[in-house]
Amino acid sequence: MSEVIMIASGKGGVGKTTVTALLGSQLARMDKTVVMLDTDFGLRNLDLYFQLQDRIVYNLVDVLCGTCSFQQAIIPIDEQHHLYLIPGSKDYHFRLTSEAFRILTQQLSRQFDVVLIDTPAGITHTHTAILPVITQALVVTTMTEAALSDGMAMCRFLHTRNLTARCIFNQLERPIFPSHQRERLQEISQELLMAEYLGGIPMIKGHRSYDLFVLRGSLQQICTRLSLCDSYLCTE
Ligand SMILES: Nc1ncnc2c1ncn2[C@@H]1O[C@H](COP(=O)(O)OP(=O)(O)O)[C@@H](O)[C@H]1O
Ligand SMILES: [Mg+2]
Repeated sequence: MSEVIMIASGKGGVGKTTVTALLGSQLARMDKTVVMLDTDFGLRNLDLYFQLQDRIVYNLVDVLCGTCSFQQAIIPIDEQHHLYLIPGSKDYHFRLTSEAFRILTQQLSRQFDVVLIDTPAGITHTHTAILPVITQALVVTTMTEAALSDGMAMCRFLHTRNLTARCIFNQLERPIFPSHQRERLQEISQELLMAEYLGGIPMIKGHRSYDLFVLRGSLQQICTRLSLCDSYLCTE
């Protein structure tokens, strides 16, 4: 069965889109077939991470409105044909319905191992519409007070819908003692956010922020904890 994973945060700018792109790329490297959906209607930018903006013909709103099939909108990203994107739309008036989203994710689940859903900032109507179809909810936060506070609000929202939040800390400063940092993050995750700790991603300075080589260790750990990567556990 395929995993349908929502990536949310509360606060904007903490790295939801970056984390979606990073996890999608890492899972594809681990031989999973992955499709990423950009549901940040009006402010789409996941296509920019992969420099796909000139290849967009149809977008997610076109698919959800029945203007085209998902096969017409989907863009292959890697040569191995593991990673795909259905780009977002600039239409900020679009109102997502659970029913249209459920039909699409059912179709995608037949073809892909993982559906990754990048979402807008805040706790929005879009999140409410997505919740009924997901199998996992990831909450991305940084260590700033504002991001943690909004992350807590998102985790509470998920709890009211009987969903367990799984937390990723992004833009972390490199620690002197990595094990101390891990313990602290686990504690914050469980006690403050009431979420399961999934992992941390360092702040990348002087590199492309989605440089998989630099980030590989952190991403492998997170993907393994997503319980998707048995093949990685066996082969590495
Ligand atoms: N780990 C990181 N290291 C350095 N820069 C990052 C990292 N994660 C995100 N960024 C940068 O932070 C900014 C906001 O990230 P983005 O993924 O667009 O956030 P969101 O989708 O939550 O609004 C972007 O400029 C992105 O390149
Ligand atoms: Mg974003």
